[in-house]
Amino acid sequence: MNYISIQNIDSLNKWVKEALKIKKKPLKNKKLGKNKTLGMLFFNSSLRTRLSTQKAALNLGMNVMVMNFTSEGWTLEFEDGAIMNSGASEHIKEAAAVVSQYCDIIAIRAFAGLADKEKDNAEIVLMGFLKYATVPIVNMESATGHPLQSLADAITMAEHKTKHRPKVVLTWAPHPRALPQAVPNSFVQMMQLQDADFVITHPEGYELNPEITKDSKIEYDQDKAFANADFIYAKNWSNYNDYGQITNSDPNWTVTADKMKLTNNAKFMHCLPVRRNVIVTDEVIDSQNSIVIEQANNRTYAAQLVLQKILENGK
Ligand code: CP
Repeated sequence: MNYISIQNIDSLNKWVKEALKIKKKPLKNKKLGKNKTLGMLFFNSSLRTRLSTQKAALNLGMNVMVMNFTSEGWTLEFEDGAIMNSGASEHIKEAAAVVSQYCDIIAIRAFAGLADKEKDNAEIVLMGFLKYATVPIVNMESATGHPLQSLADAITMAEHKTKHRPKVVLTWAPHPRALPQAVPNSFVQMMQLQDADFVITHPEGYELNPEITKDSKIEYDQDKAFANADFIYAKNWSNYNDYGQITNSDPNWTVTADKMKLTNNAKFMHCLPVRRNVIVTDEVIDSQNSIVIEQANNRTYAAQLVLQKILENGK
């Protein structure tokens, strides 16, 4: 069993319930991972994913090895049949096979480069490990998805929702750097697995990949989208059509206390790290309605559920 996309799961509702049980007794399965090793390979920076996934593995009694691949590993070649007479020192074929000898599960973080849409959509790093590793693979944020984050988001919303069918708004917000679409993509896919009044709001031209958003509702007027919302999930992403570019940095899209007043006393969510007073004002993120720290805490139980299922199910 691999965990590549939130769409891989059989029942979101069931997984959320199981994760909440783990949260109550995180050390209950401390023996499950005895003598098993999780290898975590990072091609990009991380705080939450690294520590929460490591903690999840430790809660299951696993050993953990972490490698920052870009600074510590050999530069990898991903193309089959490549004549390796320039930059790359090692082919993914050997690298993935070798890491599989040392680890029982391999977790990978490899972001979009945002220069080549086709290459990013092909998920070259993640797919390379999937193809050549001989052990289960976990996606710790790839070019197009962050399914551990969206599982944690579903757990957090389940804990905070006060009605069966809440109004949930994913809002774009400005950011000084070009960011990938992975988090909003997985959030959209997760929302499509549950019963909610789900609305995506962003400036015109900032549409996400339509193959992911499908028939999810899009409202270009942020104020209209916020009306009576129960959850506001803020996130920046760079332009998908004008691929990887920042074509809008309008500060009017920042989530402010005045905007939150339009909602039904909504909870504020963000995957973190967040640029304060750019994505969201201090007033909002420091308010009682902000659940960003709980959201980050739930990363542990999301990762623990995924690792537990892999350990229980094997390949
Ligand atoms: N939300 C998230 O994935 O955080 P990190 O990038 O710090 O791991």
